[in-house]
Amino acid sequence: MHHILKTFRFIIQSILNIMNQTWNLLQTGQKNDYKIAYVNARIIDPATRLDINGSLLTCGSKIVDFGASLFANGVPSGIDEMIDCQGLVLMPGLVDIHVHFREPGQEHKETIHTGSKSAAAGGVTTVVCQPNTVPAIDTVILAKYLKYIALETSHVNIEFYAKITTAERSLTEMALLKEVGAVGFTDDGMPVMDPFVMRQALLYSSMLNIPIAQHAEDLNLSAGGAINEGKISEELGIKGILSVSESVMVTRDILLMKDIENVHYHILHVSSKDSLEAIARAKKSGLNVTCEVTPHHFTLTEDAVKQHGALAKMNPPLRTEDDRLAMVEGLKTGVIDCIATDHAPHDCSSKDLPLESAAFGIVGLETLLPLSLKLYYNKQMDLFDVLAKLTYKPADIINVPRGRIQKDRAADLILVDLDQEWEIKTKDFASKSKNSPFDGYKVKGRVIRTIVSGKTVYSLLSS
Ligand code: DOR
Repeated sequence: MHHILKTFRFIIQSILNIMNQTWNLLQTGQKNDYKIAYVNARIIDPATRLDINGSLLTCGSKIVDFGASLFANGVPSGIDEMIDCQGLVLMPGLVDIHVHFREPGQEHKETIHTGSKSAAAGGVTTVVCQPNTVPAIDTVILAKYLKYIALETSHVNIEFYAKITTAERSLTEMALLKEVGAVGFTDDGMPVMDPFVMRQALLYSSMLNIPIAQHAEDLNLSAGGAINEGKISEELGIKGILSVSESVMVTRDILLMKDIENVHYHILHVSSKDSLEAIARAKKSGLNVTCEVTPHHFTLTEDAVKQHGALAKMNPPLRTEDDRLAMVEGLKTGVIDCIATDHAPHDCSSKDLPLESAAFGIVGLETLLPLSLKLYYNKQMDLFDVLAKLTYKPADIINVPRGRIQKDRAADLILVDLDQEWEIKTKDFASKSKNSPFDGYKVKGRVIRTIVSGKTVYSLLSS
């Protein structure tokens, strides 16, 4: 009887496998064990500082092997496809731990589908969606809904933060939300103002071994402001956002976490020199504090507002040259752990307004790599260090096994032409929204192809 059952189970399993393979073949045109040989590549893995000329083999969704001598005697039979990389850089896909994909609720600005196409075009293979959608991701059912939409429509890997607090300002069901896949918690867009609630959140998150990510802003100091409080806000007669509104919150939270064991506090889109000084001190004293910076905060200053108007309005705002230089220095010294875009799509009717009333935020996925590479071309950082801030370092912050080239890991890869000079054209963005101050900007370094789980999801040649 046991034997018959075993045979029956084997037959059912085989039928299911064949159905799965057929479904996959129908959907993508690729079978589950489809083998692709990437030859003639410059393979770079920032985590191991590997930089070799060689080949890489994927089978289905995984990396099988790579190296300088792989296929040295020619590509063996049994390979389904061979891609000649023509000496271009083959490296891990980028990981952006801060994007707003607006679904559910504001699909006219971006959907998970269009956001993921924008990510793929920017070489980003994994994103972390912020939960400030409408409704916000603060319950298990909404988290499951998001995961379902992602599974059905996304071209890239979708991770998500869930909210720290509910609309009633109490804590969300953090344990359950972690169980359904939240990689961290944040109220991004808004800070957690109440220090008691923040302390509770830090306590629970420490038990769950998951980061709390803060949008550091004391609303009592910033409320009503549109741009940085300083020479430009004075000149334009616009209410400013004090830089201390950020650093005061960072400092408060570092004090709150000090006596909590095993806690991980992450600061989103850091923008002020004073915040970095507080973070550096906290790191030095052994606290598990991490932070990210956006490309716009290490590239532009408040002066950009005069040229670009609301296209240079975001929260936190662009600050002074002193702050910008501190961001570059923070990236160099490691006080800043990673680069993240804060990709914040807005339609024309939200942006085509006077500075005071326009929405905060700019899109960033399709400009992430070339703007970051400026740090390398300007000789401010070495290539490995820049790429580390875009790959395994952000992946490590949210504890996902991405951003590295390793055998048996997901084949999330990009092909990059480091030398290609090109001009950013926002009208060509795959994102539904075009709100970026970088239109017409000359850059160097271009994503040629993006591969997620072994499949090409973007190719410059066919875009
Ligand atoms: O500029 C911003 N836009 N900063 C945020 O914190 C939120 C974001 C948005 O959701 O548009």
